[in-house]
Amino acid sequence: MTELITGNSMTAQHLIDLQAIRKIFYTDDIETWALDDIHLTIDPGEYVSISGPSGCGKSTLLSVMGLLNSSTAGSYFFDGKPVSTLSASEQARVRNRDIGFIFQAFNLIAEMTAFENVELSLTYRSELSRSQRRERVIQALDHVDMAHRQKHFPAQLSGGQQQRVAIARALVGQPKVLLADEPTGNLDSRNAQMVLDLLAALHKEGGTIVMVTHDPRSAEQAQRQISLFDGRVVDDRRTRLTTAA
Ligand SMILES: Nc1ncnc2c1ncn2[C@@H]1O[C@H](COP(=O)(O)OP(=O)(O)OP(=O)(O)O)[C@@H](O)[C@H]1O
Ligand SMILES: [Mg+2]
Repeated sequence: MTELITGNSMTAQHLIDLQAIRKIFYTDDIETWALDDIHLTIDPGEYVSISGPSGCGKSTLLSVMGLLNSSTAGSYFFDGKPVSTLSASEQARVRNRDIGFIFQAFNLIAEMTAFENVELSLTYRSELSRSQRRERVIQALDHVDMAHRQKHFPAQLSGGQQQRVAIARALVGQPKVLLADEPTGNLDSRNAQMVLDLLAALHKEGGTIVMVTHDPRSAEQAQRQISLFDGRVVDDRRTRLTTAA
């Protein structure tokens, strides 16, 4: 089966390596320690869930991992590179090429069709010809069983279908890691299960996935479960010792 996330389990290097990461938000006279001394490494091929009560720092952690937000202190190495030494445009390149995002609210662009939403992720891929680009988009849509809806706009799709398009958008660039923040949060149980099944299949193909969820049943689908509380990792356990081949 074609890999949509780059499997890279041969290298010993951590894909994500957070050392003593702290994130403090300053608003008016309030100081919020959203992340407090996070030490965390994630290797290629892992499927990791991040859980914990509302406000404990899950989304903040994911946005630091995804280079959407910088940390206040500590070091972050993504795929061996120290993120702090990358320029803003180099960080944007890593974000665009190496990281796929899935959000609770789908975040598709309303004025664009499913096809165009997915194609947008390939904007910076000048090495691809138009036909290669098209082929990749169709392949990604096909992977989530949405190729038949490629000309539809988000408003013409169900929530579950929109999330599938969003997953295709996240995968089309063949990122090194997929970061998902409550990807099933806006879905009914049937569609939620479909999204979880898709993520499980991607993991089986060698993909690296980090999923924020407050649902224990969703967390159980991951091979490794991390719990956060007050910005700190309070638990980190592996349920299955099998790794993606
Ligand atoms: N941009 C921001 N400015 C100020 N404070 C922020 C900002 N983003 C997050 N916070 C604060 O940081 C803490 C962690 O927020 P975060 O969104 O990471 O929590 P969460 O675990 O994702 O919660 P939820 O389960 O409700 O999504 C919270 O106290 C929040 O109010
Ligand atoms: Mg959140």
